Amino acid sequence: AEDKLDYVKSKIGEYPNFPKEGILFRDIFGALTDPKACVYLRDLLVQYIRQSQPEVEVIVGLDSRGFLFNLLLATELGVGCAPIRKKGKLAGEVVSVEYQLEYGSDTFELQRTAIQPGQKVVIVDDLLATGGSLLAASELVRKVGGVVLESLVVMELVGLDGRKKLDCKVHSLIKY
Ligand code: PRP
Ligand code: HPA
Repeated sequence: AEDKLDYVKSKIGEYPNFPKEGILFRDIFGALTDPKACVYLRDLLVQYIRQSQPEVEVIVGLDSRGFLFNLLLATELGVGCAPIRKKGKLAGEVVSVEYQLEYGSDTFELQRTAIQPGQKVVIVDDLLATGGSLLAASELVRKVGGVVLESLVVMELVGLDGRKKLDCKVHSLIKY
């Protein structure tokens, strides 16, 4: 049988010097335009969370490519989902945190009512680079009283050492 992970990996795009000189951009959309890779990726992520965090109650996705996965995983697992968004996009009372990116800085926000105190959360995104985004996300989840069980990404740029920055368990399907 075809290895699902190998197949997904073969469809990830690779663009030198995007969005800036010296960055080798790994493009999740290369995989998502392939129908078989979409299904395989869904299966791999769902299977991982089922065995790793069977008690999860909320899947949090990061703006913007994390949104490709949080609703998908939430519906498969029968739990809720919530977005962490770049500043100024979310209504009502929000918590905010500024963070550094591989190429710049930004502010993330989470609605206070998105997670109930004590709820168990898994955070999802397409890619872990320097870890600034996932670190900020876990801070936000904790600020509203959530418990971060784990972070899950499709791809990890291992050379940037992002996981060192993080204080929660992190899993990546594909390492570069
Ligand atoms: C990218 C990527 C991750 C983050 C990883 O998103 O989708 O969310 O950077 O980088 P880090 O580990 O160094 O924090 P980006 O901020 O470019 O936003 P976008 O999804 O809106 O393009
Ligand atoms: N791909 C996608 N998003 C990113 C990357 C990358 O290589 N580096 C930082 N954010």
